[in-house]
Amino acid sequence: MERLYRKLEEYSRSDYYPFHMPGHKRNPESVRGEFPFERDITEIEGFDNLHHPEDILLEAQQNVAKVYGVRESFYSVNGSTAALLAAISAAVPRNGEILVARNCHKAVYHGIYLRNLKPTYIYPQMDNEWWINGGIFPDKVERCLAANPEIKAVLLTSPTYDGVVSDIREIAEIVHRYEIPLIIDEAHGAHFHFSNYFPTSAAELGADLVIQSFHKTLPAMTQTAVLHNCSERVDSRLIRRFMGIYQTSSPSYILMASMDACMDTMNTEGHQMFRNFTMMLEQTRKRLSKCKYIRLVEPQIGENGVFDYDRSKLIFSTRYSSLSGTGLYHVLLERYHIQMEMESENYVLAIAAVGDSEEGFERLCQAIEELNQEQITLTKDREEKGEELLDARSMHCVLTQMMSMADAMETESESCPLEESVGRISAEFAYLYPPGIPLLTPGEQITGQFIRNMRIYMEKGLYLQGLDDYSNKSIRVVVPQAAKEQFEETDG
Ligand SMILES: Cc1ncc(COP(=O)(O)O)c(C=O)c1O
Repeated sequence: MERLYRKLEEYSRSDYYPFHMPGHKRNPESVRGEFPFERDITEIEGFDNLHHPEDILLEAQQNVAKVYGVRESFYSVNGSTAALLAAISAAVPRNGEILVARNCHKAVYHGIYLRNLKPTYIYPQMDNEWWINGGIFPDKVERCLAANPEIKAVLLTSPTYDGVVSDIREIAEIVHRYEIPLIIDEAHGAHFHFSNYFPTSAAELGADLVIQSFHKTLPAMTQTAVLHNCSERVDSRLIRRFMGIYQTSSPSYILMASMDACMDTMNTEGHQMFRNFTMMLEQTRKRLSKCKYIRLVEPQIGENGVFDYDRSKLIFSTRYSSLSGTGLYHVLLERYHIQMEMESENYVLAIAAVGDSEEGFERLCQAIEELNQEQITLTKDREEKGEELLDARSMHCVLTQMMSMADAMETESESCPLEESVGRISAEFAYLYPPGIPLLTPGEQITGQFIRNMRIYMEKGLYLQGLDDYSNKSIRVVVPQAAKEQFEETDG
């Protein structure tokens, strides 16, 4: 098949003169800095159109579907974010009901807001040893669906940011008994398909729509993602319509070519690349599992809803060391120049991927082993960490939804000192980034527990986002009169 990325490479060397967009005119000298302008084109002759694909872009997307063994796949140049918005919009009618895991990414909540949906939340289990989120129990899904017959779709995140996979086959069977679709946010699992070392992709286990970020775990440019449509439960026409609405009308050919090149590489060399990668990864895990103080976490399969686990996520717990997660993150960064994916109070997270080198793994091993060795002599500072281990990032406060997200965001609001906001209805989101999971959503009533948690996050220096007030001292809440009017309207 003709490959988009090759055609783009050839075009970049050709003598075609661009009397069209973009304004750099494929001339690298038109601006300071270095950018791949030669191959940055728009919908010109021979390059098809993502919003009306008939030729090379149709074939490229069909190729993705073939590689993953699904009915059809859609490119997203706006990450899993646009794909999640489109999946939600296509699967649930406006003002409809949806069952979502509370540990979903903020994009899911934005989809709920945009379509004015009524969410029912399902909470993940908690791993009380390592303080990470576990999986979602299938029978919890069953109970929620039985109690809420108006729910039109179920959306779960699997794997989680930490790599925890739920029992998707069982959940899909339950969801389908209610004749509704199952959407899986597999943003962190685009690599699953390429090696048995990893869990099975939801696309092979009965999920209807599966969203994957290529850029997170495959060799592809940032922003690239796909939406797989695996069944006929969600209308393809609607998926196409919403992918068109949520994405730019000028999708980057560099990004699309990157997805095409990624698929070509996976098709031809993927097997060998993943063999090498998983061998290095397994050796790294074996080596690091010997460290007693900086512990490589192995979530217990079969416990806490953990059905399976993505071993490319390297979670280092500081539970048995004198360091905090934040301390370990900074020493790795400053002393060893190793940038981790995420820091939390009691652990740090490294994402390993097929692009990793032997040298990279070696540097990580040496750094962790050295830090672990230092801990042996630090017995005095190493205190037994008990209950206070509670990790802020994994704490979910169960809050009451008083108004719909859309109503709370669009009605009159005012700024209120955080400490005085107990009992008020939030008009904004608050979340920790990463992983971008909302702790509070618009329309929820603020509780004393929520304020206490916020205080803990701030004391621990965790990065809180979402509030209008960047200092996090105040929060926007719905003005009482507006809330009253909304209640009257809803009751009436
Ligand atoms: C679980 C999950 N879903 C969706 C997203 C959004 O993905 P993207 O950045 O590709 O838009 C993220 C991003 O971190 C994520 O962690």
